[in-house]
Amino acid sequence: MNAPAPPPGPAIGVLGTFRLDGARALVTGASRGIGRACAVALADAGCDVALAARSAEALAATAAAVEARGRKAVLLAGDLGVPGTARALVEGAAAALGGLGVVVHNAGVLPTAADGATPVVAPFTESDRHGWEQVIGVNLHASAELCRAAHPVLAESPRASLVLMSSVAGVIAAPLLEAYAASKAAQVSLARTLAAAWARTGIRVNPLCPGWTRTDMTSFAHTSGPLSDWLLAHVPLGRWAHPDEVAAATLFLPSYLTGHALVLDGGLSLADGGLAGIPKPPSSFAAP
Ligand SMILES: NC(=O)c1ccc[n+]([C@@H]2O[C@H](COP(=O)([O-])OP(=O)(O)OC[C@H]3O[C@@H](n4cnc5c(N)ncnc54)[C@H](OP(=O)(O)O)[C@@H]3O)[C@@H](O)[C@H]2O)c1
Repeated sequence: MNAPAPPPGPAIGVLGTFRLDGARALVTGASRGIGRACAVALADAGCDVALAARSAEALAATAAAVEARGRKAVLLAGDLGVPGTARALVEGAAAALGGLGVVVHNAGVLPTAADGATPVVAPFTESDRHGWEQVIGVNLHASAELCRAAHPVLAESPRASLVLMSSVAGVIAAPLLEAYAASKAAQVSLARTLAAAWARTGIRVNPLCPGWTRTDMTSFAHTSGPLSDWLLAHVPLGRWAHPDEVAAATLFLPSYLTGHALVLDGGLSLADGGLAGIPKPPSSFAAP
């Protein structure tokens, strides 16, 4: 069992607890969006970072940003829809960096059409097993495999943190996104359960639950004025999150916090959207 980490003292101060100097991190889905922001934030905090996505070329810009901060970047390619990839990424990252203390498992997908890019946002009754398996495979099965592989590696670190990038869709109802929501709810449950199971090995496990964040994944919505307006009408803060705002939470999570689903959603999950009497515009989607 790891020795408990010392409390912050005058030598480092409270802000110093956000530093991760000398730590070694793996970020999946680091080629863009929230994952890229997490990788750069971890480098800012002092981590060397292993970066994973389906192709190494897609990681070049993130690697350049990590190296510009004086930290080492390691590129790992692998499709998390393929069994065995998550384990290979963890083992490859640990081998290349000499261990791992921080894992941000961020890669995730919405169901997509046959072109592999267009998101399918449709009534559940129109969904099929293919879409379900696609989303559960990448978002949930790969998470489980990654956690299993990461445990022995993280247990060697004195201050280990495992973050599963879930979603506010994992803690509230998300009609038209049932497979995605189910996978994200399962990530919350997996993280909370492992937090309890692994606490005495010194590994903190936290699910992070962002709301609507402006990335490629949500471009179908934030590039469409009417759809964006409709979605933001349900967000009390009334705006999209920036990926950096999500990434900042990954620096906070490796503290005295475990098994906590941190919901970072501009108030979206508050009762009735917390809209304080502002009527919601009608949805442009057909009811299932
Ligand atoms: N954006 C939001 O509003 C929002 C809200 C809540 C939660 N989230 C969650 O936050 C995470 C990141 O979302 P994002 O918006 O940044 O998404 P994004 O812009 O679409 O980026 C997704 C990342 O995951 C990687 N990825 C996708 N499929 C993969 C696969 N099969 N194998 C390996 N890597 C794969 C992508 O890399 P390549 O395509 O280069 O392989 C990319 O780096 C996801 O888990 C998402 O569910 C997002």
